[in-house]
Amino acid sequence: MVHVSTKVLECMSTPETLNAAQLAGSQIPADAEPFALFDAWMAEAQRSELNDANAMALATATAQAAPSVRMVLLKGHGREEGAECGVVGGGFTFFTNMGSRKGTDLAANQQAAILFHWKSLRRQIRVEGELTEVSSQRADAYFHSRPYKSQVGSAASEQSRPLPERQTYLDRVQELWAAHEADGEVPRPDHWTGFTLSPRRIEFWMDRANRLHDRRVFTRESGAAPWSNTLLYP
Ligand SMILES: Cc1cc2nc3c(=O)[nH]c(=O)nc-3n(C[C@H](O)[C@H](O)[C@H](O)COP(=O)(O)O)c2cc1C
Repeated sequence: MVHVSTKVLECMSTPETLNAAQLAGSQIPADAEPFALFDAWMAEAQRSELNDANAMALATATAQAAPSVRMVLLKGHGREEGAECGVVGGGFTFFTNMGSRKGTDLAANQQAAILFHWKSLRRQIRVEGELTEVSSQRADAYFHSRPYKSQVGSAASEQSRPLPERQTYLDRVQELWAAHEADGEVPRPDHWTGFTLSPRRIEFWMDRANRLHDRRVFTRESGAAPWSNTLLYP
């Protein structure tokens, strides 16, 4: 006999309701500036997420358009982001190793997308656009702002290439550690750099009761063009 708990039965028999709050209009303002709205949502996520509210999925694709996705950390964003490398109209910056799989994609195809999903807020932000490499001064500054152990770890890594055994990596770490310990910093490897994504499209998604979710997408033709926006069916 299948056992169904009283709680489940109660849930199943509860009639669906639509109240005034559920039927209220969009909570994502049409007059919002998307970078400012991103800031507001990120600030809330910083307070409510367990860790790494700045973690985002980065999707890239090969020259043949085969996609792949992985997490990276957002290290700068806003209306002025990327100005130092010629990006107009702001962006979102992350850092990585160009020898990696994503690096190979980015060398051939600068179109990319990033995605934030904050479970604690039940919200999602999707961003799409083109990437521009940061200046070497910016890459140096960020690389050397990281703790010594992080500099060693990333300089010693041939990110995404086969590692015959873990000890090979640990030997490289120890060697680099000893070589630069007196200086307190490791020279930034040429293949370690950053990219700023200049958004053409930013979509905000928020959970609403009864699955009547709220979505608004902001689009622009280029970094210099004004934003327009529309609601989307959930
Ligand atoms: C929360 C989180 C944050 C990460 N941040 C970065 C990052 O900022 N840069 C980076 O290169 N890899 C980061 N990684 C590792 C990547 O997800 C990935 O393993 C690595 O970059 C190799 O990816 P690829 O082979 O697709 O190039 C992070 C992983 C996690 C889980």
